[in-house]
Amino acid sequence: MKYKFNETLLNIPPSASLAVSEKAKKRRAEGVDIITLATGEPDFDTPDAARIAGITGIAEGHTHYNTALGLPALRQRIARKLAEENDIDASSENIILTPGGKYAVYEAVRTLITPGKGEEVLVLNPAWVSYGPIVMAAGGTPVDVELSFESHYKITREALEKRVSSRTRAVIVNYPNNPTGCILSQEEADTLADFALTHDLLLISDEIYERITYDGNQSVSLASLPRIADRVITLNGFSKSTAMTGWRLGYACAPKEIISKMSILSQHTISCLSQFSMEAALVALDCQEDIKKMVESYDDRRRFFVKGLNEIPGITCLVPQGAFYAWAKVDLAEKDSFEIADYLLDEARVAVVPGDCYGKGGSCCIRMSFATAEADLREALKRMRHAIGKINDSAEVKR
Ligand SMILES: Cc1ncc(COP(=O)(O)O)c(C=O)c1O
Repeated sequence: MKYKFNETLLNIPPSASLAVSEKAKKRRAEGVDIITLATGEPDFDTPDAARIAGITGIAEGHTHYNTALGLPALRQRIARKLAEENDIDASSENIILTPGGKYAVYEAVRTLITPGKGEEVLVLNPAWVSYGPIVMAAGGTPVDVELSFESHYKITREALEKRVSSRTRAVIVNYPNNPTGCILSQEEADTLADFALTHDLLLISDEIYERITYDGNQSVSLASLPRIADRVITLNGFSKSTAMTGWRLGYACAPKEIISKMSILSQHTISCLSQFSMEAALVALDCQEDIKKMVESYDDRRRFFVKGLNEIPGITCLVPQGAFYAWAKVDLAEKDSFEIADYLLDEARVAVVPGDCYGKGGSCCIRMSFATAEADLREALKRMRHAIGKINDSAEVKR
């Protein structure tokens, strides 16, 4: 039979970072000793207390349907967390739980965009690989706003104004940023606020890495700015901060009207999250010591890994202020980012994600996760230094 598919989905490419992981897996299966720095996942287990809460929930029979909005006690606790840690004025009515942060992004965009009307969503680039496809899957058109490596991806009004149109409905903002590790400064938050007010836009602020920051810095939460609080949808989740990727726990915080519309979508698509997962999340929010230890460990690895990268001739690595990714520009015989990643996989046996997968502003860049065992990071540095040295040395000889 000749199948007919949703035409929008036919235009959506598969996840580029998953493609790198697949390539690395294939090489491993062939017996090649590959170090993968391509995966965006904490290398810790979920804190014990949260795991026990999940097991207890199952043992007590909390295995039935729950409400589409999520467990009331968890929604209350999230609202308190947002007030205490992020200066966001929220109550449980402003919160909805979602199966992972990814679905929160989809549900937010799906709730705002009417398919077929040509509505656009600005996406600050470089951007997490799924934003563009999610906007398309929700019936909108993603429009890239290019920021530059040279200015450390500082958000400027000029860059935003270049891409806005009468069809723009919202801007997707992600800080701490995957892939660059940049955090949102007060000045940049003000720029975004002025821009949103001028053009009457909503701001979708994905803050999933918000608890993973370094050097005493904190990324500004957009909804903490009172003048735009009614136009911000804050997205967050438990995957990164509490090492709960497989539990599929995310949430959105937004004005009540928006949450009630998102809830209708949840009722008809996912019904609810599992109660025992939400009970584990409730406990995870109080696992402050575990979270602190994980962040300290990422920080130790960040320091030596970024220093080591910057010591390799041809590599310029930004110092990440949040998340667990090193983002570096590689000057390697005029290779583009895909060629650089292929070369490193073949020659150094190190898997990295090509910067061009993250849209504009990522040319000649690569993303490496330092949520990776210290010994592997040290070995990867050694291998990359050697592989890059080989090309640079032969370029010297030619000159
Ligand atoms: C920026 C960003 N947002 C959202 C997500 C989704 O996380 P999850 O769906 O596991 O909660 C990720 C995962 O890589 C991410 O990097």
